[in-house]
Amino acid sequence: MWLIAFSTFIFSALAVPHSTRGLPLCSASTPRACACPSGTTFTNSTTWARYPAAVKDVTAITGNYFETAWFGSSPIKTSGQPYTVGADRTLMGELPNTAPFPATERLTMHKQLPNHSGFQIKYQMVDAPFHYNQTNGERGQIFGYWEFMEIHAVSPIRTHWVWNIYSCFSTPSDFEAFHESAMNNVSSILESRGKMYGRLIGPYSY
Ligand SMILES: *[C@@H]1O[C@H](CO)[C@@H](O)[C@H](O)[C@H]1NC(C)=O
Ligand SMILES: *[C@@H]1O[C@H](CO)[C@@H](O)[C@H](O)[C@H]1NC(C)=O
Ligand SMILES: *[C@@H]1O[C@H](CO)[C@@H](O)[C@H](O)[C@H]1NC(C)=O
Ligand SMILES: *[C@@H]1O[C@H](CO)[C@@H](O)[C@H](O)[C@H]1NC(C)=O
Repeated sequence: MWLIAFSTFIFSALAVPHSTRGLPLCSASTPRACACPSGTTFTNSTTWARYPAAVKDVTAITGNYFETAWFGSSPIKTSGQPYTVGADRTLMGELPNTAPFPATERLTMHKQLPNHSGFQIKYQMVDAPFHYNQTNGERGQIFGYWEFMEIHAVSPIRTHWVWNIYSCFSTPSDFEAFHESAMNNVSSILESRGKMYGRLIGPYSY
């Protein structure tokens, strides 16, 4: 395992000057423009929605880092505390032409906004770069992905949610569809609890 990781590092390091054109290699510390190593493609996707609901009701569904049923999958393993930086959750990932694989995501930032007005989190894949073989025989790579989420009150019954991901994958993934579907799911859950006081705005992606 260590050897694989090491040779990957060499490969990535050599690839950098050719692929980045002066941009830093993507990592957790590059929220601005960055470049992916060769063989992977940069994506940056932001999805937002505004709920006619109280921030505490949206947060009751989405706030616990270990409780992810709202996006259609629950961790097979967790470690640490769900509101504390360093927490890990392992989810089964799926990509085109790939058997489901375990992907561990680490919480790298967790901030409660003042006055119980919401929260911000950041998380990313642990054990990246991750190499895998596709069922069609081709090699695949996840160099990394970095997610940011903020849910904050804009009024007592209006809550704004922004969800960004930037990533370096060898195979394109439709993050917009995933995030929008998850946000729509949260809206359905709120509806079923009688916690929606109007019409959902969004989700929209750019
Ligand atoms: C992603 O796009 C947003 C705006 O659309 C920008 O603020 C952010 O810096 C971009 N992130 C990266 C890593 O390029
Ligand atoms: C949304 O909910 C449906 C039904 O509960 C579930 O099958 C689907 O995986 C969920 N999708 C996401 C992205 O959460
Ligand atoms: C917190 O809420 C109180 C009472 O609603 C308000 O007076 C105060 O300005 C708020 N503080 C912040 C930082 O929003
Ligand atoms: C992928 O396949 C190659 C060659 O068949 C093999 O050497 C390698 O260990 C496989 N990698 C993984 C992650 O399964």
